[in-house]
Amino acid sequence: MKQVIDGYEITTASTEAAEQTKRGIESFIEWRMDPFDWLDRALETDPDCVFASLVKGLLLVTARSKNFAPIISECIEHGESREQELGMQETLYFKALKAMSGFKVLEALEAYEALLRIHPRDLMATRMLQAELFWMGESRWMQRAMKNLEQAWKPEMPGSSYFYGDYAFAHEEAGFHETAERFGKMAVELDPSNVWAAHAVAHVLEMQNRADEGVDWLSGLSGGWDEKNQIVHHAWWHRCLFHLERGESDEVFELFSQEVRNPESPRVKQAPEAYVDVQNTASLLMRMELAGFEVGERWSGLVPLAESRLEDHTSPFTSIHALIILAKSGMLEKARTMIGNMLTFTDLDQGPIGNTYRQVVVPAAEAVLAFVEDQPKQVLERLMPIRFLLYRMGGSHAQRDLFWQMMTRTALQLEDRTLLGQLHSEIRDFGFSMMEHRRAYAGVF
Ligand SMILES: [Fe+2]
Repeated sequence: MKQVIDGYEITTASTEAAEQTKRGIESFIEWRMDPFDWLDRALETDPDCVFASLVKGLLLVTARSKNFAPIISECIEHGESREQELGMQETLYFKALKAMSGFKVLEALEAYEALLRIHPRDLMATRMLQAELFWMGESRWMQRAMKNLEQAWKPEMPGSSYFYGDYAFAHEEAGFHETAERFGKMAVELDPSNVWAAHAVAHVLEMQNRADEGVDWLSGLSGGWDEKNQIVHHAWWHRCLFHLERGESDEVFELFSQEVRNPESPRVKQAPEAYVDVQNTASLLMRMELAGFEVGERWSGLVPLAESRLEDHTSPFTSIHALIILAKSGMLEKARTMIGNMLTFTDLDQGPIGNTYRQVVVPAAEAVLAFVEDQPKQVLERLMPIRFLLYRMGGSHAQRDLFWQMMTRTALQLEDRTLLGQLHSEIRDFGFSMMEHRRAYAGVF
């Protein structure tokens, strides 16, 4: 028996289980902390509600941790046990889940795009598509995919804030900053708690070096984020970048310990090894050091986070940040072990993720080790050949800027003015403006 609720056709005899599944989906779409509470409730109400299992499995895939693999397998088994009963929408989600569990990202992308051709206002498929394209570094595809959906939406439709937030972020990463800012601000007007839309605008402000506006924008909205999930840590990371740009190291370190990575916060307690925390913390401390600030003992406090990634290959971009933490904490042998683990993984996975580890993450990791060991020539030997492939690790221009800062700092150390000039021009091409005023680059070029 099928229950149709908000465009989701859910195979269950229980209207309550269908409603609980929908609440779980809504929670995910709105970046709340409780989607799994709702999905588990749906499965208690009706253990045969396969869609709740499929959504749960997909959400765990997006959480990027190998620790979730056993539960993801259970969700797949649940789907297989009732595969004949599933509707077309459920079948496509099931296809995406099976594909992602085997790192077959392109197959999952195909399933999401097929879902959206049938249901262009399916916000879960929209978010999943955006997330997977983002972690593939496919910014133009991400923008094009969101553009394909635009005509299905109007601002007065329920949930539109969340589509326009995704739309804004995709446009920002593809370099359409004016469109991104306009749609991001509209999405925030429609729902001021939409942290992803606020974040999209923060990216525009970062690319355009509008640090004062960035601090005001994020601090004016953060009061509405109490119920939001770990993405809030990343929004605070963005605010830290604006403070760093203003030279306000005390503010950065205060926010680092209170908001970006506070072990006592409910978000950290809920997900102590969240991948975004690995990225935020490593990136922020490294940037502070590159800007000339002492970070003290803060690296060593992050070691458990990094160690959780030693044998985890669910997220290339997280792996490189975990390696930064290990290297900066003086754990060079462990960092080398981690690189060895990556190479072992590349033997097992011949798909796009294994390829990214082989071609990009391993040389980037070796560059990080060389940087920490003050071997500037080796830094450039490793990073320069892959600098235009770094996007394959995923992440945003703003995040990947860290590696361009490292290359710039190294070229400066080697007094290679020709290379500095080239890097300057290349960084601008990614859409960064006001280069001559940016703290990381001012006086360098
Ligand atoms: Fe961001």
